[in-house]
Order: sequence, then structure tokens, then C-alpha cells
Amino acid sequence: MLYAGIDLGTSSVKLLLCDEKGKIINTVVRDYPLDFPREGWAEQDPSRWYDETVAGLRLLTDGYGARLRGLSFGGQMHGLVMLDENDKILRPAILWNDGRSAEESDYLNNVIGGDRLSEWTGNISFPGFTAPKILWVKKHEPEVFARCKKIMLPKDYLCYRLSGRFVTEPSDASGTLLYDVKNGRWSREMLGICGITEDMMPEVRRSYESVGRLRREVADALGAKEVIIAPGAGDNAAAAVGMGVVGPGKCSVSVGTSGTVFITSDSFAADGMNALHSFAHADGGFHLMGCVLSAASCNKWWMEDILGAHDYDGEQNKITGLGEGRVIFLPYLMGERSPHNDPEARGVFAGMSMSTSRADMSRAVLEGVAFALRDCVEAARRRGLEVREACLCGGGMKSPLWRKILACVLRLKLNIPACGEGPAYGAAILAMTAAGEYASVKEAAESVVKMAGQTEVDERLAEKYDAVYERYKALYKNLRDWF
Ligand code: XUL
Repeated sequence: MLYAGIDLGTSSVKLLLCDEKGKIINTVVRDYPLDFPREGWAEQDPSRWYDETVAGLRLLTDGYGARLRGLSFGGQMHGLVMLDENDKILRPAILWNDGRSAEESDYLNNVIGGDRLSEWTGNISFPGFTAPKILWVKKHEPEVFARCKKIMLPKDYLCYRLSGRFVTEPSDASGTLLYDVKNGRWSREMLGICGITEDMMPEVRRSYESVGRLRREVADALGAKEVIIAPGAGDNAAAAVGMGVVGPGKCSVSVGTSGTVFITSDSFAADGMNALHSFAHADGGFHLMGCVLSAASCNKWWMEDILGAHDYDGEQNKITGLGEGRVIFLPYLMGERSPHNDPEARGVFAGMSMSTSRADMSRAVLEGVAFALRDCVEAARRRGLEVREACLCGGGMKSPLWRKILACVLRLKLNIPACGEGPAYGAAILAMTAAGEYASVKEAAESVVKMAGQTEVDERLAEKYDAVYERYKALYKNLRDWF
């Protein structure tokens, strides 16, 4: 039997086909545009997500359709998709890295009050979350808001179009700020504050549960019979599953468009400092997560948009002087979420001189992203969590140099999974579990996930980085008001 995992990312949808033992049969990537209509805004057209996913599924299952038994999703979190009474898309989706709802987010944290938000949902507000975006639409586009009958998250839109089932699951629902993470239900208080009703929200089912079948006409186009659909998970939870970060006390780090540090637990615990999000995991447990808004995207911006270079290895081969810290880069190109909650923050290069080279600046970008992730790891350590090793995924994991920098800056031994397609692989594992191949997500992940290697901490370099990290932190502190 074969299973498809669909990772609805920010720049592309990545699809993966594997058998019940996790052996990868095929992968497909389909790109779509990301629009920045104003500085700090980010939008996408949900119908492009669907069109590219269906086109991708055709390529993925070419010659294999008859053996396709199940599929599921991992998806960019928090995005706001709004449909009218005829299921027509009302406006482009407002994405996780869009900072326009800063005012609404401040209103929620300061007027409604962070304590009450934490009590109702387990979290405070960040502009990237869904609830402040709904308030933004209510205020700035009242005609859109008035016509809205369904609100859903990006991957749930795919699930709806592919199965007809209006469902979500706890890991992604957690990032809406409309969901009571601890008690596993929509928060009546938060729905009321946003002026919406529960029937506008998807039903919350388990990530690894069969909720329906692939629509007949799509299945026919793939040459498939009955294809089970499971709701899947937010991309970080799906990636964690895809790396075997299932069950309590484990950690994963993702260096994709965003960067995240994800730490699992078997019971709900809010982060009193609110530096980390307190969300549900896709295995039925919970996790704490820090999210930096620009990670591999900083490197892509620097390499392609600024240097006009596409040979990443060639540029990185010229880098020397790790940890010398003469040039420091703050990676806040889209503002920053964890731990600063500062949509006004921006990217900065500091410390250049006449002898600064292109390679010095390229190095500073890789190091700056690692320091931003260290802020998240430190937030976890301050809570008393012992984090010593992590699984690494995302585009950043492909570079041996960046892996070394990350291991030493974070002071984490990094385990490198054999399958680099974290969220899509995790989604396929959730589909296998829904189809009954395995009794639990844990059993599935333990049977399927393999590691390919590891990157150890080099203590001498880590010490150098400890010192540069202090200067990195001071730089943001000194610039905060200026931003
Ligand atoms: C997590 C977050 C990002 C997106 C990226 O809170 O906003 O990791 O899910 O796809």
C-alpha cells in the first residue's frame, strides 16, 4: 500500500509518496508565488495551493495510483482562509509571517489581557496568529468579514477541497488563538471577541484519524480507488512526526522559510514568559515551540536577491573565520516572533569595515539565523528544560557548514534524518496511522523513521559563539526603540 504526504509550504507544495515501511517511491515539488503587497505583509492565493497540489498529485502517483491507500497534510500554520456561503474564496490568505495585525494583536494582549488569553487558549497573541488577522479583516474589510461563512487554515482548505470535509486538528488549531489547547475545544470567549461563531470553524478531529475519502473525480484522475484522508498537522508538528520526535522530552529544529525549535511533552504547560508557544502535538501530546520568522529565507534573500548568486555551495566554500563575530546580522526581515514579538523589527548588518568581504557577510547571515534560534533554545532552558540534542530538518540542514554553525551556536548535537522531507514524511506517517497500518503515531514513527548521521558540538567553537551571542542580543536591545 502507498501513502502520500502533502506539505503545503510557503514557497511550494512538496509531495511525497512512500510505502507502509516508509520507503520513498517518489517526490514532487510545485512552486507558487508569495505576494508581499506591502512591507511586512504576506499573502497567497488558496486556489493556487489547490491547483498545484492536484497537479503535483498526478505527477506523484503516475503509475502508482491504484496502490494509493491514504493521504494527509502538513501545512504552513496560522494563515487565514475565508470562504463565503458558496465556498468562494473571499480574499487572498493572510499568512503566518504577515505583520499587519500588530494593532489588533496589541489590543488582544493589552486590552483583553494576556492573562485572560493564556487562560482561554494557553497563549498570548502574536500578529502571525489567526485571531488578530480576523480582527484586522473585521476592521479594514468589513464587507469581506460580513460575507464570511467559513474560516480555515491553509492545509485544511486543501483537505476541504479534496475530501469535502470541513475539519482541522489540534496542532494547527493551536496556532489560531481561538482554540483552548489544554481542553481541546474552540474557545467560546475568543470566538466572541473576534465576532465569529463556532459553525464558521472546522470540526477538530485527531491528526491521525480517517475523516473521509478523496473525492471521486480526483481519485479517478489519479487512477486510485478508495483513498483515506487524515487531517494531518501544522508543518512543524508534521515535521516532528517525520523525524520521530514523538512522545515526551524530544526536540526538533527546523531551518526552513521560518525557523523553529519544537520540544515535546505529554502534558499541557503554558510558557509563563510567553516566549514559546504552547501547542498540541500531532501524536495526541503537546509541545512548546519558538518560531523565528525568517530563517533559510534570509539566506535565500541574501544569496539570490542581493548577491544574484545561485551556487550556494560555491559561496559557502569561501567562508572562513567562524565565530569571530566581526560582522553580525539580525535576521528580522519580516519582523520577529519568538522571543521578541516585534513586527517592527528589521534586518541589520552591523560591524562592517573596509576589509569586510562578501564571504564575511554570507557567514554573518548563517550565524545570525542560528543566534535567533538560540534565543528560542535559551527560552526553553530558562524554563528548566534540558535540551541537549535535536533532529534537524528544513532546507538549512542540507549545508554541512550551516549544520556545524547551528550545532555550536545552539549547543545541541544535531541528528540528521535520512528523509529530509520532514513535514511531508510526517504527513504520510499520519496517513498510515489513519489507515490502520500502525496502532499509533509513535509506533509508526518508530518503525519508519531512520537517521542518516549527526553533527556534534565543537566545544571550542561553541565557546566563541557564546561570546558573540551576547553581542548579538545587545544589538537588538539597543536597536529596539529605533525600529
Ligand atoms: C509556526 C510558524 C511557521 C509556519 C511556517 O508558528 O508560523 O513555522 O508554520 O510554515
